[in-house]
Amino acid sequence: MAVKKTTLSMTVQVQAKRQEADGVAGFTLVDPHGRALPTFTAGSHIDVQPEPGVLRQYSLCNQPGSTDSYQIAVLREPQSRGGSQAMHEAVDEGDLIQISAPRNHFELAPDAKRSLLLAGGIGITPILAMARQLHRDGAEFELHYSARSQAAMAFHDWLTSGPLSAQVQCYFDDQGSRLPIDQLVAQPHDGTHLYVCGPGGYIDFVMDRFRTAGWPEAQLHTEFFTAADIDTSNDGSFELVLARSGESYRIPADQTVAEVLLDNDVDLLTSCEQGICGTCITRVLEGIPEHRDRYMTEAEHAANDCFTPCCSRAKTERLVIDL
Ligand code: FES
Repeated sequence: MAVKKTTLSMTVQVQAKRQEADGVAGFTLVDPHGRALPTFTAGSHIDVQPEPGVLRQYSLCNQPGSTDSYQIAVLREPQSRGGSQAMHEAVDEGDLIQISAPRNHFELAPDAKRSLLLAGGIGITPILAMARQLHRDGAEFELHYSARSQAAMAFHDWLTSGPLSAQVQCYFDDQGSRLPIDQLVAQPHDGTHLYVCGPGGYIDFVMDRFRTAGWPEAQLHTEFFTAADIDTSNDGSFELVLARSGESYRIPADQTVAEVLLDNDVDLLTSCEQGICGTCITRVLEGIPEHRDRYMTEAEHAANDCFTPCCSRAKTERLVIDL
């Protein structure tokens, strides 16, 4: 049987587990022998294995550059595929768990003159690390944070009474307070970079408004936590050819490329398995992929020279990839 290749490379201990808000558990992870952890930058995430066979990505939300601990916060998702449920129920203080080294696909732009940070719900986690970094650097920024209610808003008290409070605005659905999107998109955008994280609908709404208002794409940055809703009812099969080995496989309608490759012992590094982390990106040499990820940009999709085999398929009958 094929052994799945994973990114897990470290064992850490759960030093503390606490309730950050309704349905949100916070975890402090440390090296079990007290050694320094690899450093990280704002926007980084780690892969976490809460139990065997389950791998999830969580953003680091403590002060970027910290090497004494990693902090993550996990929303218990009603539609959980098992990851958030396992984090809430199976992982406790003192436990040892496997994680990857931090990776960053949601970096702060080094040339930004000003940063606009927008978070919806648990999307606060990478945004919080960004706010800490910008505050420490003395950079100009605003953080706008929306949640269902104050009780459901992780880090509310610290954000509104701590050192960042002058830059933070909170909005609660149950109180009818709303993100002032019209004002935000109307601001001058020269040198301002936007960072958005939260539920897919929130990100789509915000990005659509900024794009429509003419903000340059290079100044808009997002990170999705969930896969896109895709209608798979018309999926068909196609031929996949591995250019280096010459092997070819039929990808049936009900399997992903990654699943077929793994079944055939082909090395492929995967992590989220739903098109949001970018770990599995592979070069396409012939054919046109049907992109289903939320990781690559529109321009990268249009180039059609890479795809995510964990979820994307082919528009052409044959796809030749660089494996
Ligand atoms: Fe995350 Fe494919 S494994 S995008």
